[in-house]
Amino acid sequence: MIIGIPKEIKNHEYRVGMTPGSVRELTHHGHAVLVEKNAGLGIGFTDQDYLESGAEILNTAQEIFAKSQMIIKVKEPQPQECAMLNEKHVLFTYLHLAPDLEQTKMLLKSGCTAIAYETVTDRNGRLPLLSPMSEVAGRMSIQAGAHCLERAVGGRGVLLGGVPGVAAGDVVVIGGGVVGTNAIRVALGMGAHVTVLDKSIQRLRELDDLFGARLKTLYSTNDNIERAIKEADLVIGAVLVPGATAPKVIKREHLAKMRRGSVIVDVAIDQGGCCETSKPTTHAEPTYVVDNIVHYCVANMPGGVARTATIALNNATLSYALAIANKGYRLALADDAHLRAGLNIHRGQLTCSAVGEALGLASIDALEAIKIQ
Ligand SMILES: NC(=O)c1ccc[n+]([C@@H]2O[C@H](COP(=O)([O-])OP(=O)(O)OC[C@H]3O[C@@H](n4cnc5c(N)ncnc54)[C@H](O)[C@@H]3O)[C@@H](O)[C@H]2O)c1
Repeated sequence: MIIGIPKEIKNHEYRVGMTPGSVRELTHHGHAVLVEKNAGLGIGFTDQDYLESGAEILNTAQEIFAKSQMIIKVKEPQPQECAMLNEKHVLFTYLHLAPDLEQTKMLLKSGCTAIAYETVTDRNGRLPLLSPMSEVAGRMSIQAGAHCLERAVGGRGVLLGGVPGVAAGDVVVIGGGVVGTNAIRVALGMGAHVTVLDKSIQRLRELDDLFGARLKTLYSTNDNIERAIKEADLVIGAVLVPGATAPKVIKREHLAKMRRGSVIVDVAIDQGGCCETSKPTTHAEPTYVVDNIVHYCVANMPGGVARTATIALNNATLSYALAIANKGYRLALADDAHLRAGLNIHRGQLTCSAVGEALGLASIDALEAIKIQ
């Protein structure tokens, strides 16, 4: 198969669809890989690295799209990229179609086969191509929060790990899923005192087994949240109710009771945020202050550590990319129900019922769809 890796064109997006290491796996299996000039330069992958992995470098995205059968990206295609897609293309990337009617219409019109990272499932019912980004965001949330606690940034001037003779900082993690677990790991590693709250008793049991007495676990009620955040230096918002906007577990009136200069890192901001006073921010201006509480609400946290995020994403996507390339997309999708859950669009038909419901469009079964020639 001929596989194309265009340079990402969304503002400040430095991640890239395939690392040189992944390209080497694809070329090793006999596939041709075309990489757009400077596609990985922003994160230190040079054209020379790609050439040494067996790729060919092309100057423009137009050439990549014209010559490739499968396009591997990170972000959803922008309108000028959608315009270059047609029936011969398999598009493998994050799509997030549910809130994006314009992109959905363009992809339906293109006739391409679009497989979305975010709807691929695994046998545990999880989303294996989303969790690497949650791992990154969870670990990063403590790093970002620790920085925000510095006085110059508006924080209360607390060092999370403390020093001999001075108590460590208090971290409260609300939601103990993938983001929360990774935040806990880093916060404990820094020597902070950590409390986690979750609605799921089963999840609290698992976290208790994982971290033992070093971690304080609390069932998530309004009362417990209010008490915990009053004593916190850093609060991590990491709740998720699948398919819904994040519940507002931190209310505006809570802020006045919190320690002046404490920090809320609302990782759940991409689902609307779990604090009433959260609004999305960017890496260029990540924080703002409400009622003396520093808010960090960057909606695409992994983009800030684009090199790590790209490698983590590739570790998860490579086996699926190889299956599609080795078997052809029809057989790969027919063989694997979990990969098939990723099929969102094929030959002008919507194949993801959740996207259809969100946008008020009809959808058909993915297995039926791939029979369409
Ligand atoms: N900002 C970013 O860049 C970024 C990056 C990755 C993930 N995220 C977001 O982070 C959030 C968490 O993702 P995840 O992968 O950890 O999800 P997850 O499903 O693994 O974990 C969510 C946890 O929240 C718990 N929960 C639900 N309601 C709760 C409540 N009221 N109180 C306490 N806990 C509650 C669930 O029981 C679950 O354990 C999601 O909104 C995700 O989209 C944001």
